[in-house]
Amino acid sequence: MKKEYYFDNAATTKVEERVAKTIQKYFTEVYGNASSLHFKGQEAKRALEEARSIIAKAVNAKQNEIVFTGSGTEANNFALKGLFFSNYPEKNHIITTKIEHDCILNTCKWLEKQGAEITYLDVDEKGFIDLKELEKSITPKTFLVSVIHGNNEIGTIQDIEKIGKLCRKKGVLFHTDACQSFTKTNIDVKKMNIDLMTLNAHKIHGPKGVGALYIRSGIKITPLLHGGGHEFKLRSSTENIPGIVGFAKVVQIASKKDIKKMKKLRDYIIERILSEIENVKLNGAEGDSRLCNNINLCFHNIEGEAIGSFLNSKKIFISTGSACSSHSLEPSHVLLALGLSPLEANSSIRITISKYTTKEDADYLIKELKKTVTYLRKISPF
Ligand SMILES: Cc1ncc(COP(=O)(O)O)c(C=O)c1O
Repeated sequence: MKKEYYFDNAATTKVEERVAKTIQKYFTEVYGNASSLHFKGQEAKRALEEARSIIAKAVNAKQNEIVFTGSGTEANNFALKGLFFSNYPEKNHIITTKIEHDCILNTCKWLEKQGAEITYLDVDEKGFIDLKELEKSITPKTFLVSVIHGNNEIGTIQDIEKIGKLCRKKGVLFHTDACQSFTKTNIDVKKMNIDLMTLNAHKIHGPKGVGALYIRSGIKITPLLHGGGHEFKLRSSTENIPGIVGFAKVVQIASKKDIKKMKKLRDYIIERILSEIENVKLNGAEGDSRLCNNINLCFHNIEGEAIGSFLNSKKIFISTGSACSSHSLEPSHVLLALGLSPLEANSSIRITISKYTTKEDADYLIKELKKTVTYLRKISPF
């Protein structure tokens, strides 16, 4: 089989072998329902609580502040809708940004139909929100500020510590979607004044279909799913023990060494592409303000889709925009928010590496990318 070159790790990642091995027995041996009182149930319950404790510790939360969900999408829906229903009609205003993941933006659009008012903050050309604009947007009706931590398309990392501090001072709740930044940056919910935070497993070499919402103790939130009262009566449904155990295992495995390695390779790829291919621009922030695995580039006068399909034929897998919206031909809302024209947005591609990506993989990508760009520019009508 021809080697595959996977550069779409912001869409999803390969499950770490040690995780796949660890969770096997939770399908076939430790398969009890964590709510059952007999031994089989209680051994599953122990695994569930141990996993909760590992994830809580990783972000400096308390064990009972972590609620497992079926995905990052569900956790984001739960945070926004759950808080809306526990605050409406006294308060109905949410502040978010123009560069959120679709599962935040589409939840906000739905909430607008239920009576919510939403402010969508602008970002600058690197993707950062303006704290003064955020402060000015807070009104007596505001109950929530929701700002993505590490952006899934452009990799920009917001200063959530400053945002958290401001929200606490103003008495509004602060939620952050940390699906892309979890284990790739330091997160301390107490130090950063985070009230709610969305996490998931499949972006960090864990299984798909498992996420978590950190909810600071004492916050009133209406559940999305009603049923048997699982997860502190906040998220009914029999817990996905293999997924949850896998989530915790991958959090334990994550290391600073891997972040350092990815950062180095990210910068190597960026530097080589910018210096060896003409008319290319990096979208998003630089250095430590950018996710260690994210590269987003605009190749002027070529369709990103065309680059993607040429590389695909060489078994090199990159993406244009976010995986969740790449079925649409609309230019990326994130790139438009940075100030790119629709043409520039459609000329952009996203390359996301992982701890498994090697320098040899990167060299092959760059070689094929150079050939592809040269060819496409030659036939381009622009
Ligand atoms: C920033 C961000 N939030 C939320 C999600 C949704 O997560 P999930 O695929 O677990 O529903 C994703 C994944 O695409 C993401 O990148």
